[in-house]
Amino acid sequence: MPNPADPDTNAAIWKSADVARTFAAEAGQREGRRREQLQLMARLLPFDGADEFTFVDLGAGTGAASRALLDEYPHANAVLAEYSPQMAAEGERLLVPYAGRYRYVEFDMLAGDWAPLDGVRFDAAVSSLSIHHLPDSRKQSLFSELFARLEPGGWYVNFDPVRAPDDVLESVWQRVNDRYEPDAAHKRSHRDAREQARYENHVRYMQPLEPQLKWLQEAGFAAVDVYWKRLDYVIFGGFKPR
Ligand SMILES: C[S@@+](CC[C@H](N)C(=O)[O-])C[C@H]1O[C@@H](n2cnc3c(N)ncnc32)[C@H](O)[C@@H]1O
Repeated sequence: MPNPADPDTNAAIWKSADVARTFAAEAGQREGRRREQLQLMARLLPFDGADEFTFVDLGAGTGAASRALLDEYPHANAVLAEYSPQMAAEGERLLVPYAGRYRYVEFDMLAGDWAPLDGVRFDAAVSSLSIHHLPDSRKQSLFSELFARLEPGGWYVNFDPVRAPDDVLESVWQRVNDRYEPDAAHKRSHRDAREQARYENHVRYMQPLEPQLKWLQEAGFAAVDVYWKRLDYVIFGGFKPR
């Protein structure tokens, strides 16, 4: 495990044109594998196809979650909050079919400064594979800050990997995951320096699920639940009571 005291390499990774280009090139394949999860995130929102609303996608990257929601709700608009201009530039290419229904806003989830999103209506918020990049104290405060900005009745849905709460469960998850990806064990023991850096960045702040559910509840969210789970990947969230 990396030492949490080490300098955070997250920005260096995501603000690299090379990483962003590779991430975008693999978007079709990755999103194909996650179609069910992306669609479920969209369907957890209590809207129908005729509803006009605005949602915010935190750590939006190249827009996987946003595009799933924009497909599900033809009258919705997306605000993609993302701190990497390189990821946003790649996302702009993938979002061409949605022109006029989305915009990127440069926003750093670490900063706690929501001014870049002033004036944006938070009818709902989603995040996909981004919250695990934040230290725990920021995860917790982000949930509260988001709650304050959500419209009454607004949902927040988060799709993210989580860490196993103990080594026994960790080895069960790894054993089962490896059955689905037979070369995973070989890949784990043959990472080059760049792959190792990406891996360490991926797991650095990854946390078990339970405390994160508690932070949502403490922030005030209702109907907090794990709406989908497969081994280390989960969809959880809740809504702001009216
Ligand atoms: C694994 S990618 C996921 C992108 C996209 N949400 C998806 O599901 O494909 C993680 C994203 O989180 C963004 N991110 C990481 N830390 C961030 C921060 N502090 N503020 C805003 N975005 C951040 C990265 O730039 C990257 O686009």
